[in-house]
Amino acid sequence: MTLEQIFATRAARLKASEIRELLKLLDQPDILSFAGGIPDPSLFPAEAFAQAFSEALTPSRQAQALQYSVSEGYLPLRRWLVVHMGTIGVPCTTDNILITSGSQQALDYFGKLFLSPGDTALVGWPTYLGALAAFNAYEPVYDRLTIGTNRAPADYMAAAKATGGRVKFAYLSADFANPTGETVDHAGRERLLDQAETMDCAVIEDAAYQALRYDGAPVPPILALEIARKGTIEACRTIYCGSFSKTLSPGLRVGWVVAPQPVIRQLVLLKQAADLHSSSINQIAIHTVAERLFDSHVAELRSVYQRRRDAMLDALARHMPDGVTWTRPEGGMFVWLTLPEGHDGAALLARSLETVKVAFVPGRAFFADGSGANSLRLSFSCASEPMIEEGMKRLGVLLREGQLAS
Ligand SMILES: Cc1ncc(COP(=O)(O)O)c(C=O)c1O
Repeated sequence: MTLEQIFATRAARLKASEIRELLKLLDQPDILSFAGGIPDPSLFPAEAFAQAFSEALTPSRQAQALQYSVSEGYLPLRRWLVVHMGTIGVPCTTDNILITSGSQQALDYFGKLFLSPGDTALVGWPTYLGALAAFNAYEPVYDRLTIGTNRAPADYMAAAKATGGRVKFAYLSADFANPTGETVDHAGRERLLDQAETMDCAVIEDAAYQALRYDGAPVPPILALEIARKGTIEACRTIYCGSFSKTLSPGLRVGWVVAPQPVIRQLVLLKQAADLHSSSINQIAIHTVAERLFDSHVAELRSVYQRRRDAMLDALARHMPDGVTWTRPEGGMFVWLTLPEGHDGAALLARSLETVKVAFVPGRAFFADGSGANSLRLSFSCASEPMIEEGMKRLGVLLREGQLAS
């Protein structure tokens, strides 16, 4: 008997992503990569962090910075977040906030807290790959969250019952989603809240990219809309998860959850069992840097990323052959391409790496049902404008050749 044979059943749901395997090839220096959905490291506020870490390690502060801490998170950071959430229409208290090790940890906790095997999680087709990875371990059934259609809540509920569970939550990134870059409009958010009310399920609002808006009018967070309906966060079913990864630094692994107190109390217990608390010194440094420059830094990120977004949209318009369509994100890091039916993003990537040396993420991995083969995700966050022009030009040539060949 091998140890693999005695792994729990949930281990069978944990698959290495085929994409990660392909993306290992990206270390080659001659590849133009639009694959990684990560912040541009040249924009990290490194000096501010150097200063913050050095202050945290002075004799009067080092005992706190290097010591164990409370599971809820560093109180001054939670106080900063109360003010921050207030500015985006979410009145709450520090008791409504849990600091997590990145928002990825929060996604794992939501799976652990809500999903018994066979329960249904509603997710977009496509959705954030890391959310599927986090929920998979809890053996859910996925159903397609379609906000803009007339599919009735009763239909979702019946489908969930037929597969042996109930609808526990709808998960979505309402602003500049990974992978599509799309935003759910105000009416769509209200409709989702209505549907969640009927299904009596939670709404998980993943706000990882929310601060990175480049144009268009901001749409209130789903949690803000629900508080406006109900008068208090304590009556809400929406759970908001935020992250400093896309604004200050992903390496420090600091994110947060905003939810009614009973949910936070339960998440605190999960956190105690998982890792006691997020890194003390990292939370202190994030707090110091956020307090000093969050707004000005985000403004700088927005102006740089906006230029790259514009460059990508311009280049796509010039270089893509007929039949290829793409989203026009108002923020975030991604543009989502749909190829004519019959084209395969993964095969295209293999061909692209061999010939024109352009990398992107094939779309299929973002679909819980394995569909979406004819789509792909492009990220503009780490690419200079000339690189975007060159990359889209090469991709256009490759797609034209593919169309001629097929
Ligand atoms: C939509 C979305 N949610 C959550 C995360 C996880 O981010 P982190 O754990 O760094 O906060 C990511 C990372 O790419 C993401 O794209």
